[in-house]
Parts: sequence; structure tokens; C-alpha cells
Amino acid sequence: MTVEDSVIVEDASKTRVIAIDGPAGSGKSTVARALADRLGLPYLDTGAMYRSVAFAVLRAAGDPDDLEFAANAARSIELDMSDGRVVVNGVDATLPIRSPDVTRAVSAVAANPLVRRELVSRQREWVERRGGGVLEGRDIGTAVFPNAQLKVYLTADVQVRAQRRARELTELDLQAVAAELTRRDTVDSNREADPLVEAHDAVIVDTTALAIDEVVNHIVALLPSDIVDRG
Ligand code: DC
Repeated sequence: MTVEDSVIVEDASKTRVIAIDGPAGSGKSTVARALADRLGLPYLDTGAMYRSVAFAVLRAAGDPDDLEFAANAARSIELDMSDGRVVVNGVDATLPIRSPDVTRAVSAVAANPLVRRELVSRQREWVERRGGGVLEGRDIGTAVFPNAQLKVYLTADVQVRAQRRARELTELDLQAVAAELTRRDTVDSNREADPLVEAHDAVIVDTTALAIDEVVNHIVALLPSDIVDRG
């Protein structure tokens, strides 16, 4: 039995998924990647999928608020997220999907129920093909995999989240980053389609004062022991 096979043996009614949800800058990507590495599980950044659709819309000179345009971009997008790169319709968009333009456009695209329907279906297919994985996003534990084996909701103080983001994007100042995070949190939490919300059965982890290793260790401790022994 591989590590992957051992996940979720404790409860066959659950999907072989570890869901990591939370607001921007809560540490989802770093923690989810480290956790997937530690457990030898495949990892999917679903935020990068929404960013890729926003990137495709902007590249086609479309309006991110145009529901049909964005939906068509989502349905027709060729997305390759293997090897740590994000290739959108044949163009390497690994860095551009993190640009301020895409970050501004992505909230509207992610609030579009037609885009969500397409990407959620791709996320479920991704898991089906691999038999499980660690997925990070906003709605993994609530909408995409309500039956996930483990749901973690990461959160952190907005100032600390802004500091983390500002360190990644040095050209932006802290106040601007904090304002942009708050704006995105508000849109993500108040939209009608699959809003950012804690699943009722999620474990909430406040990462404000925790190092990555501490968060990962905490999550690993919540998993069945046979996985941890193999990690
Ligand atoms: O995690 P991120 O900042 O890269 O996410 C980009 C945007 O996509 C963010 O505004 C929220 C949205 N998103 C979403 O609505 N559902 C997901 N599963 C993942 C991200």
C-alpha cells in the first residue's frame, strides 16, 4: 500500500482529499505544498486556476465582468499545471497570473457561477484521475469536496497576511497590500456562488504566530497515524 493508498483508510465514506481553505495570505499555498510533499500526495492550487481564467480573459482583451465571455474562456482554456509551472493556452503564465492586473480581475471571474461550475468540475476530475490529493482554495471543503477526509481552514491577522504578500511583491507597499487583501476577502466572502466560508466540520488554524513547520505538523497530527508513520 502506498502513502496515497493509506490516506482515508479510516473512513471509506470520505473522499481522499485534504482541503486547505482560507483567505489570501493565510499561508495556504506554502502549507498545502509542504503537506503534499510530506505525505507524497499530489497538490492542486485551485486559486491558480481562477487566476489562469482571468489571465486568459485579459489576454483576449475581454471584460472580467462579462459573464459569458469569462465562462467561454473557462470552458475553452487549455491549462497545464504540471512541474510547478502554469501554462495557459500554450503561454507560460506562471508569473503573469500573480500580476496586480490579474489579481484585480480575478475576484470578478471567481464570482462568476459559470466559471465556477467549469473549474469545480475540472478539480473533481483532477482528483478522480489521481485518486486523491491536497487541494487549496476557498471552497474545497464546502463545495468541491464536502466529503473531504480532512478540512483545514487557515486564517491569520490581516496585517500579518499583508506582510507576507508584500514580501512576495516588493514593489507594493504594506498599506496598499492590506487594502487589496481586505477588498478581495470581502468579495470572496460575500459573493453568492460558493463564498469563502469555514466548513462546519473544518479545523480552524490561526497561522498569525505560527511557522510553516508548526502548521504542517499540526495538520499531520490530525491525520490517521499510518500516514504520519510513512511521511
Ligand atoms: O488563492 P489565490 O489568491 O491565488 O486565489 C485567487 C482568487 O481566486 C481569489 O480571489 C479567490 C478565488 N478562488 C476561489 O474563489 N475559489 C477557489 N477554490 C480558489 C480561489
